[in-house]
Amino acid sequence: MNVPSHIAIIMDGNGRWAKEKGMVRLKGHQAGMEVLHDIVECCSDLGVSYLTVYAFSTENWKRPAEEVSGIFKLLVRYVAKELKELQEKNVQIRLLGNIEPLPSDAKKSVLKAVGDTAENTGLVFNIAINYGGRAEIVRAAKELAKQAAEGTLDPDSIDEALFASQMYTADMPDPDLIIRTGGELRLSNFLTWQSAYSEIYVTDTYWPDFTPDRLKEAIEAYNGRDRRYGGIKS
Ligand code: IPE
Ligand code: IPE
Ligand code: MG
Repeated sequence: MNVPSHIAIIMDGNGRWAKEKGMVRLKGHQAGMEVLHDIVECCSDLGVSYLTVYAFSTENWKRPAEEVSGIFKLLVRYVAKELKELQEKNVQIRLLGNIEPLPSDAKKSVLKAVGDTAENTGLVFNIAINYGGRAEIVRAAKELAKQAAEGTLDPDSIDEALFASQMYTADMPDPDLIIRTGGELRLSNFLTWQSAYSEIYVTDTYWPDFTPDRLKEAIEAYNGRDRRYGGIKS
């Protein structure tokens, strides 16, 4: 089995999972945080180089305040519970997105997770928090425009590689495989720049029911894909 170097996951379906069980939505988010443990471990064991998960989008602020604050509390809890084991597994945590507007305890705990794992050399585990693909592109354009205005960048030298170097994922390969749980056939502002040639795999399984076996099924499906990049089958 050819294991993708970079897997990205849209962890969707927590609310519907909870609703079907007669529980409040936050219980779904809680169950979702718990399955993340097994998926990170599985990616690390399989030798995946990069795992990116969509934890909170720039659009998710539209949700009721108590759901939003509940999600950030769960994030604090996740870091407190998992950091030691992630260290032991040599996982390096990185953040995609603007964490400035996060509640201070959530900001503190994710920054600690990044700082404490910075020297690790195993799986790179990107957590996308307050992340939006369009916001990321605008941020990159702004930075390049500033450099051009200051005279340190020749606008004619802007190419795809330079643009990519301004993304949160600057030194990483684009995702080979994007998995979406919960059945929706859309990307919801996830990795807009980086997903240009990603293989997309959607499963109806809700995120809290997603297991390492389901992940392996996704990787198997990926293995059956013919990645042509605009060329023809060789
Ligand atoms: C995804 O699950 C988690 C976040 C967006 C934070 P949802 O909460 O969107 O679950 P559904 O789509 O309502 O079932
Ligand atoms: C995408 O799920 C965002 C995350 C999983 C964090 P949403 O539930 O927010 O996406 P839409 O609203 O169905 O497009
Ligand atoms: Mg959803």
